Order: sequence, then structure tokens, then C-alpha cells
Amino acid sequence: MHQSQNQRNYQRSNRAHELTAEERAVYDRLCLDRMPQHVAIIMDGNGRWAGKRALKRFLGHQQGAESVQYVVETASRVDIPWITLYAFSIENNLRRPGNEVSFLMKLLKNYLVSNVQRMNDNNIRMAYIGRTHELTPDVQETMRWAEEQTAKNTGTTLTLALHYGSRAEIVDSARSVVHKMFAEAKQRGISVEDMLAAEGGEEAIQHRIDEETIAANLYTAHMPDPDLVVRTSGEQRISNFLLWQLAYSEIYVTDRLWPDFRGLHLLEAVEAYQGRERRFGGLGETSDENLSDVLPTEAELTR
Ligand code: FPP
Repeated sequence: MHQSQNQRNYQRSNRAHELTAEERAVYDRLCLDRMPQHVAIIMDGNGRWAGKRALKRFLGHQQGAESVQYVVETASRVDIPWITLYAFSIENNLRRPGNEVSFLMKLLKNYLVSNVQRMNDNNIRMAYIGRTHELTPDVQETMRWAEEQTAKNTGTTLTLALHYGSRAEIVDSARSVVHKMFAEAKQRGISVEDMLAAEGGEEAIQHRIDEETIAANLYTAHMPDPDLVVRTSGEQRISNFLLWQLAYSEIYVTDRLWPDFRGLHLLEAVEAYQGRERRFGGLGETSDENLSDVLPTEAELTR
């Protein structure tokens, strides 16, 4: 986890003048004070993209890696501070043929090595979430290198979810809460049981383990929850991606396959997002808050 990034100060790029004419047309319709602060993307459809062209699947992934760079650069030009991409899941690792997994890892390394300069040119910082310590040492080393090379950048943070699973992340959060509790008790020279009893027993458990604690121990503790989640290739699933963090995110599904997805399409997703009314479990801005419209009258109650 990257606790030190917690309170980072995002620096606006003001680089909208670098957008393509097509992107600019969509951008000019956006409301700039309602830009999403965090966009998460489930990149899907690489295999289908290749299949449609009678190409091997790996060429779809290769083309998909190109899309990553286009999309993150547009995000940085329009000042989206956080972009998180689902690049490789624990399930991908377990359920895909070994040669496809090795290809994806090789592609990731090549992608990082060949794009660090562009990341720096665009003031983009690289980060990762997932059980990345279970990836092979050479992959981890390249990841660390790219993270270090871009660590000083103050613009968009590109987070790659690698060897990631959301249920595993929640399990890891719970484990981390328990580990910290044991460490604290050990440091105070008492048992966990005595420590909790001294704090009021059940009350102490409720105080120590609440939504805030679980969130603070997720891999994403240092970032805001996504405002918008995009999924390409038309599937209407979350696929074990950021289950906790997407609780109130707007979902945008496009039939476009990931290798065909560009900055323009990211901006179209943002435009659709801005057309939504976010309620966070409340009534929303357009609802009539006059309680006589909401609550039943005495007569209606006794009917
Ligand atoms: C889904 O396509 C995508 C993935 C398995 C992972 C995403 C990987 C990339 C975009 C390539 C490399 C990324 C980086 C960061 C270098 P799929 O194979 O499931 O497509 P399908 O559903 O059409 O078969």
C-alpha cells in the first residue's frame, strides 16, 4: 500500500489545447467543475478484437496496450486526477493458458519500459494495486522501476490493477486490521483480549472495525472512490473489480472493444456521466423534498 500518497496534491495540467479536434468538440460540451476525479476502466474485448480480424489473441492484447497510453494521456490533458485500469486479475492468472499469461506479463514489462518517458512527458505517475508480490520477480522489478521513475510526477495517477481481485483485497484489508491489532497489543505488552476488554469489549470491536477501518486498509486507501466505471465490449459485469469502492459509482458500458477505445471515447463516457444524477442513497436534486409528498397521511395509514 502507498500510504505516503494519501494526501497528495494534484497539479492541474491545463493542457486541453493538446486534445485532438474530435476530443475538443466533446470536451467543450463538458462542465469542467463536474469532472470525475477518478475513472476506473474494465478493459475488455482484446480477444474479440483479434478474432474479428482473424488474428491471434496476443495481437489484441498488444493493440490494447496502445489504447492504455492514448486513454491515460487524454485523461491527463483534461485533468482527471485518478485513472485505474483492470489490467490483470487473479482469475486471469488462474484461468488463462500459461502462454497467454506469460505473454501478458511480457507485454506489461515492455509497456512500462517503453512508456515511462511518455509518462514523464505527461506528468503521469504510475501506481499499482493487487497481490503484486505474487507476480514473478522480474515483473515486480520493472513495475517498481516504472513507479520510481514517475514518482515525482504531480499530474494524473495511472493505477494498474495487477494480479488483482476485489474479494482478495477485502480479505487482505480484514487481515491487515487484525494484524495491526495484534501488533498494538504486543507493543503494549498485553493480550488482544485484554486490550479490547479494557476498551469496553463489544463497543471496542465496533469502534475499531467499521467501514472507515476497512476502507483505510484497502489497497486504494490513498485514493477517492471512482466516480465513474467504464466497461468496454458490452459485457454488463463488474468481474470482481473494486467491489467496495464502486458502491456509488456511475456505470458506463460501451460495445466498443478495448483496442478501439481512445481518449475520445473516454470523453464521451465523461459526458454521459455528467448527464446522470448521483444520489448516494438520497433523494437527489430533482426530487420534491416536501414531506407531504413522501410520507403517508393518517388516512392512508389506516386504510
Ligand atoms: C480483456 O481482454 C483484457 C485483459 C485480459 C487484460 C487487459 C490487458 C491489456 C489491455 C493489455 C495490456 C495492458 C497493459 C497495461 C500493458 P479479453 O482477452 O478478455 O478479451 P475477450 O473477452 O474479447 O476474449
